[in-house]
Amino acid sequence: MTPDLQQSGAQRLLGYRARAALGQTASGGRAAGFSRLGSSDELDVAHGRILYLEDVSVSFDGFKAINKLSLDIAPGELRCIIGPNGAGKTTMMDIITGKTRPDEGTVYFGSTVDLLRLREAEISQMGIGRKFQKPTVFEHLSVFENLELALKTHKSVAASVWWRLGSEQSDRLAEVLHTIALSEQVSRTAGTLSHGQKQWLEIGMLLMQDPKLLLLDEPVAGMTDEETARTAELFLSLKGKHTLMVVEHDMGFIKTISDIVTVLCDGSVLAQGTLEQVQADERVIEVYLGR
Ligand SMILES: Nc1ncnc2c1ncn2[C@@H]1O[C@H](COP(=O)(O)OP(=O)(O)O)[C@@H](O)[C@H]1O
Ligand SMILES: [Mg+2]
Repeated sequence: MTPDLQQSGAQRLLGYRARAALGQTASGGRAAGFSRLGSSDELDVAHGRILYLEDVSVSFDGFKAINKLSLDIAPGELRCIIGPNGAGKTTMMDIITGKTRPDEGTVYFGSTVDLLRLREAEISQMGIGRKFQKPTVFEHLSVFENLELALKTHKSVAASVWWRLGSEQSDRLAEVLHTIALSEQVSRTAGTLSHGQKQWLEIGMLLMQDPKLLLLDEPVAGMTDEETARTAELFLSLKGKHTLMVVEHDMGFIKTISDIVTVLCDGSVLAQGTLEQVQADERVIEVYLGR
């Protein structure tokens, strides 16, 4: 996105680290800076948050999967989410993307877009992309065709019946191919790619739509160590240009990419801070990390 955005994310992080060093932060999410998105499809992030959840709850058959969850994320941030199975991590993403409606609470994209009033497709068009755990690429199509299709299904170009890849779009496609390290596989059938390459292709499909916020659910599960390392590089390169929320169990991966880590447990935030801080937290050790 804009250098503006990148800078604000960086400034926010520096501020956070300074306070964290002094032990002054209860919530990294509250340490928001100020910034604006300069693009034409502008999102109001004047309050320094691109995503804001407050007191969100949802029950399934009387079981509170999400329980008074409050969390916010600054533009350009790469936020890691960890926590035991059943903590509500995937359900939180379901709520942000409109797949699940909470029983109560507030969910905002920027300071003006009430996500609870939008349908799933509208939320995606607003610039929130989601990567599910399993790769869902079109196996019988080539890498190129998969990326092309991701563009076509996007609102702005789908309107044109006789749509063809323009020069701007083919530049974009080439750029995304490079970003996801699949330039040399462009003609290959997606079904023949390795698991890791399929995951990158799916991330590439999301990037074709230039999402402001990317939600990634256990992206390195099942990857080789080398693929995991390359995915870490990929995410670090996306940070600043996009805002990322990454759910993962792989602590080595988290260590490489994380700034602020949020620990979810029983549907709400148990702890938040740098990885070192949450790893030292007795409650986090108790419920998740073990002794
Ligand atoms: N659609 C659903 N219907 C019933 N229970 C659900 C549904 N989605 C999630 N749950 C329950 O909510 C809890 C949180 O699940 P989930 O969000 O998948 O946790 P995590 O991703 O942190 O492992 C679990 O106990 C799960 O069984
Ligand atoms: Mg999950």
